[in-house]
Amino acid sequence: MWHHLPFFITILFLLQIQVAAEANQTDNSNDVLLTSQLGPYPVTINEYEIKTNRTDPLAPTPQLRNLMITVHRPASKNFTCPTQNQARIPYAPPEVLKALDDLLLSTGNSSLDTGGAAVAALGRLQILNCTSSDISASSKNPILLFGPGLKATHHVYTGITMASASFGYTVVALDHTYESAAVVFPDGSVNYTSPIGLKLSEDEDQPKGFETIQNIRTADVASVLDAIEKGEIPGIPKGKKQIAMYGHSLGGSTATNAALKDKRIKAAVNLDGTFYGAPNRTTIHKPLLMVGGADEWKPIFSKSRGWKTWVKVDNTEHYGYTDLPQIADLMNVRDKAIPLSLTGTINSQRLQVIVSSYTNHFFDLFLRGEKSKFLQGPRANFPDVPFIGHSQPKD
Ligand SMILES: *[C@@H]1O[C@H](CO)[C@@H](O)[C@H](O)[C@H]1NC(C)=O
Ligand SMILES: *[C@@H]1O[C@H](CO)[C@@H](O)[C@H](O)[C@H]1NC(C)=O
Ligand SMILES: *[C@@H]1O[C@H](CO)[C@@H](O)[C@H](O)[C@H]1NC(C)=O
Ligand SMILES: *[C@@H]1O[C@H](CO)[C@@H](O)[C@H](O)[C@H]1NC(C)=O
Ligand SMILES: *[C@@H]1O[C@H](CO)[C@@H](O)[C@H](O)[C@H]1NC(C)=O
Ligand SMILES: *[C@@H]1O[C@H](CO)[C@@H](O)[C@H](O)[C@H]1NC(C)=O
Ligand SMILES: *[C@@H]1O[C@H](CO)[C@@H](O)[C@H](O)[C@H]1NC(C)=O
Repeated sequence: MWHHLPFFITILFLLQIQVAAEANQTDNSNDVLLTSQLGPYPVTINEYEIKTNRTDPLAPTPQLRNLMITVHRPASKNFTCPTQNQARIPYAPPEVLKALDDLLLSTGNSSLDTGGAAVAALGRLQILNCTSSDISASSKNPILLFGPGLKATHHVYTGITMASASFGYTVVALDHTYESAAVVFPDGSVNYTSPIGLKLSEDEDQPKGFETIQNIRTADVASVLDAIEKGEIPGIPKGKKQIAMYGHSLGGSTATNAALKDKRIKAAVNLDGTFYGAPNRTTIHKPLLMVGGADEWKPIFSKSRGWKTWVKVDNTEHYGYTDLPQIADLMNVRDKAIPLSLTGTINSQRLQVIVSSYTNHFFDLFLRGEKSKFLQGPRANFPDVPFIGHSQPKD
């Protein structure tokens, strides 16, 4: 069950926050800012539409597939964002928050019907957009693609993706139209999880449904890479790039599948995701960092022949690799409205440092050519990161 529940759980958590807020009528604090600038650079956030020429397999009516990407990138080379450019923006568009609420109500559990109050609770959460950035200044950055968990959207990983950008990476976060809870397009129209998308993503006992979803996601990644290569994304000039991919849950499996399939992806990170599709059947020859996971990862790890490292993180849970732990701490609802079974007991700032340190070292190694042995064995500063294994390429 650790790989396929992000959407439902996210909804539960929204509601539970509201339950806590109601329990504390004196708590009238307004906006809460998500911490995400772990590195030296403030971050600029832009959203772009990618129109593909692929027939959309999930759309309710025949159409070509359109994707939205969110690009997080370092704001210029400045280390601080001028005060006048610090824009606090909503954590996610109201439509996305509402989609979570609506899907919940469709479960028929009337005790979970908050009449929209849950949306209001998460509506308090904000992130910082450094608006003054000259986006061309970051045009030479290596690029990271990020994939969300099943039915989730990239928004619930903002702490992770913005942290990477604050260390000098251009992070392109994907959603998967008609599978993700809601995707908002520039014209204001919204595409929600479609009936076909819903059916396939609830088909986890029949691997065929998940394989189909996995293949659509991998093709989405190729479409995004095409757009990058052709110079269609503002601030990313066309031409050869240093690109890696990471992701959580099904997004981690997607990163691995995309790396297997696409020459343009140099390396992949799987954050606690069951592998679907090609990694089950093929040998991985590219650099692979595996964080978290379960026993079922063993055969995939042992047969991989590229550079590989596997670590776990103490006191975490599957949804720890989202913004949940930080949100729980910010809103003071850990182990209350947001149960430890979602966040684990690990301190949220510590977890952010762990995820950011391990992924950064990996990307620095394979995209920036930095020499470091950090990922080759246990680290004294990270006694809470059990080291499972490492080996160098076998070919
Ligand atoms: C309740 O409100 C008080 C006063 O604003 C605050 O200190 C406390 O953290 C709140 N508790 C919860 C559980 O939100
Ligand atoms: C879609 O675009 C790609 C790349 O631009 C091109 O190679 C392919 O032939 C196109 N396919 C269709 C069906 O138009
Ligand atoms: C309905 O929601 C409540 C509160 O979260 C939960 O305890 C209960 O198990 C749910 N019932 C069903 C049938 O999902
Ligand atoms: C962030 O600021 C830029 C201006 O630099 C703006 O174009 C962009 O739309 C803002 N991002 C969001 C998500 O509001
Ligand atoms: C960066 O800092 C310089 C010098 O303080 C300032 O002139 C410039 O406007 C800043 N650029 C951005 C994008 O904030
Ligand atoms: C999906 O979004 C597009 C805009 O990109 C819109 O034209 C279309 O009607 C939407 N589809 C649905 C089913 O909402
Ligand atoms: C792939 O492996 C996972 C375990 O890692 C398993 O749950 C899944 O069913 C497998 N899928 C196929 C198609 O073999």
